[in-house]
Amino acid sequence: MTTQNPPPNGIDISRPNVARIYDYLLGGKDNFTVDREAAKQLLAVTPDMAGIVRDNRSFIGRVVRHVADEGGIRQFLDLGGGLPTQTNVHQMAQRVAPDSRVVYVDIDPVVWSHGQALLAHGDQVAMVRADLRDPATVLRHPDVLALLDLTRPVAVVCASVLHFVADEDDPYRIIAEYRDHMAPGSYLAISHGATATAEEDPDDVVGGVTSVYRQASAQLHVRPLAGIQRFFDGFDLIDPGVVWINEWRPDPGVPPAGQPRSLRGGVGRKA
Ligand SMILES: C[S@@+](CC[C@H](N)C(=O)[O-])C[C@H]1O[C@@H](n2cnc3c(N)ncnc32)[C@H](O)[C@@H]1O
Repeated sequence: MTTQNPPPNGIDISRPNVARIYDYLLGGKDNFTVDREAAKQLLAVTPDMAGIVRDNRSFIGRVVRHVADEGGIRQFLDLGGGLPTQTNVHQMAQRVAPDSRVVYVDIDPVVWSHGQALLAHGDQVAMVRADLRDPATVLRHPDVLALLDLTRPVAVVCASVLHFVADEDDPYRIIAEYRDHMAPGSYLAISHGATATAEEDPDDVVGGVTSVYRQASAQLHVRPLAGIQRFFDGFDLIDPGVVWINEWRPDPGVPPAGQPRSLRGGVGRKA
């Protein structure tokens, strides 16, 4: 997709878009000049950004494998699932259990149209265009209800997305609403941008990254560790708790692609 081609109807290419910036950083092609410019600004702030997004995908892979393997989870609700990439959540899950069902939810029209084309084939995967900040709409969406049985355990995945939800939108209430609709034995997985002290981040990389997103389709709201842990109220955090994503049950012998400390992440189980 380039600016030489007209953008699909309803697609805003006047400002950088969080889904398409992320796609560019992952080496994807579903992005426009404005997104690539923003991604380059991020890379100027921290050349590690491409490694960090790859580490985020690896974290998702380990989480999905864990909850499928150890938790017996066969249905996934991936909120803010993003543009289709090399290995998507349904492929990760179906490697463990071919009968796994996955619904991707994303607010973005490009994600939705590409997801429809690339992901939602067969009767085990669906792509829903919705705003995760409206849990009632997501949880009652016919495509969600057609694929997921919410009376049974489900894994709700919120990878690198809750930091695009502002405090004014009350993200804790939003996650609590999903939690209250999840059956016992369900899992919540989160990766999230974290604040850092001046000592931890002497070059203020977090501030630099946040300011690049100021002009984007959604702003970045990094949170302190305690603020990320709070999303797991009502869940039992499984070991090792909320940690740097690279420290969450790392695969032996697989080094991080980016810096060891980037996003925070954790997984909770509803008792
Ligand atoms: C950085 S990408 C993360 C993609 C994927 N979850 C991952 O971690 O690899 C964030 C995604 O969240 C989506 N998003 C942002 N705000 C959202 C909202 N309120 N509701 C649904 N999706 C949202 C964006 O469109 C984008 O696709």
